[in-house]
Amino acid sequence: MLRFGSLELKSNLFLSPLAGYTNLPFRLTLRELGGLDLATTDLVNARSLIERNPKALKLIETSPADRPLAVQLFGSAPEEMRDAAVYLESLGIASVDINMGCPVKKVCRVGGGSAMMTELDKTVSLVRGMVEAVKIPVTAKMRLGWDDDNITAPQLARALEDAGVAGVFVHGRTREQGFSGTVSLDGIRKVVEAVRSIPVIGNGDVTTPEAAATMIRETGCAGVSIGRGAFYNPWIFLHSRQRLDTGESPPDPGFDERVRVMTRHLELMTQVFGEAHGCRMFRKVAPWYSKRFGPVSEFNKRVVQLASRAEYDSILENYIQWRRQFLDERGELKPQYRPSALVSSFMRDREPESARRSVIPVPKGPVEVW
Ligand SMILES: Cc1cc2nc3c(=O)[nH]c(=O)nc-3n(C[C@H](O)[C@H](O)[C@H](O)COP(=O)(O)O)c2cc1C
Repeated sequence: MLRFGSLELKSNLFLSPLAGYTNLPFRLTLRELGGLDLATTDLVNARSLIERNPKALKLIETSPADRPLAVQLFGSAPEEMRDAAVYLESLGIASVDINMGCPVKKVCRVGGGSAMMTELDKTVSLVRGMVEAVKIPVTAKMRLGWDDDNITAPQLARALEDAGVAGVFVHGRTREQGFSGTVSLDGIRKVVEAVRSIPVIGNGDVTTPEAAATMIRETGCAGVSIGRGAFYNPWIFLHSRQRLDTGESPPDPGFDERVRVMTRHLELMTQVFGEAHGCRMFRKVAPWYSKRFGPVSEFNKRVVQLASRAEYDSILENYIQWRRQFLDERGELKPQYRPSALVSSFMRDREPESARRSVIPVPKGPVEVW
């Protein structure tokens, strides 16, 4: 249905890199739920990879169930980026994504076009070096530009296409916006219009199947990449897939299914990272699941200190008992306790019913680099 060069994909829905979160256990949890094909790692420093730095190797850890996998690289030395791509290809990685970082302010403002062209020339030759060194597809991920007066993504995408990239991912915000304001569908569409034939994948604030369908319809993008929405709602790929294929969105999963998947995520976490470290890492994962549980203070208070699997089982059991006071005779949360729905910034006017909470939390991390 969609291809990056020679790589044929079964779904046009992608997992966006979220440094600190898009690790093997999370990817496997999402893949088991369905709807997702190409998933990516966190960003990895090209030089660390070439040096076989253990932390970098842990970031690209994968398993047979974790296919097809893209690794996102960042770095500015052309030889390092090229050698890292060659190494990834030798490991059987399906695709390499380049973190384009953010456009540099001084390049956009001072010197205007010519400075940008100098920068662009450098980028293009770095990318060409990578494309020529490997057979697997090379893709790039970018923002719209520095600010509203410096929208560089269309030009960059076109130049990268000429350099041989097999697809681009565009987060529909500027660098200046950070994670605030609205994702610009218009901005994404301009990138779609700027390229000749490679797929452009839209990204930003997709939290519902409707938002995924709207982004595709209104920008003409070939697919959608989802980051924080996958944390908020791991079923988003499956449900968006069904929405795109049939026009219908399945109902949200209930409490029992959410608990099942959360527990599976912890299981995978302890398998990959060991019990102690896996539980420590899970402290920041569990509150994302519990956002949808209704009243949750009793759970969150304890899970953020999680140290073992046995402790998790006991926290969960106690919580399920405590939560009963908020249920009606049918075992459903009483209306006043139901969590509010999240609405994508560009869907605010279109989903008035559910437009109660419109900001997706930005998880902790060095987000200023993207
Ligand atoms: C905690 C966090 C970590 C991120 N890490 C990366 C990264 O490693 N590489 C990257 O290109 N983008 C990174 N991003 C940006 C996301 O991939 C994505 O473009 C952005 O969050 C918008 O999409 P979303 O609204 O679906 O999350 C990160 C964002 C967050 C919040």
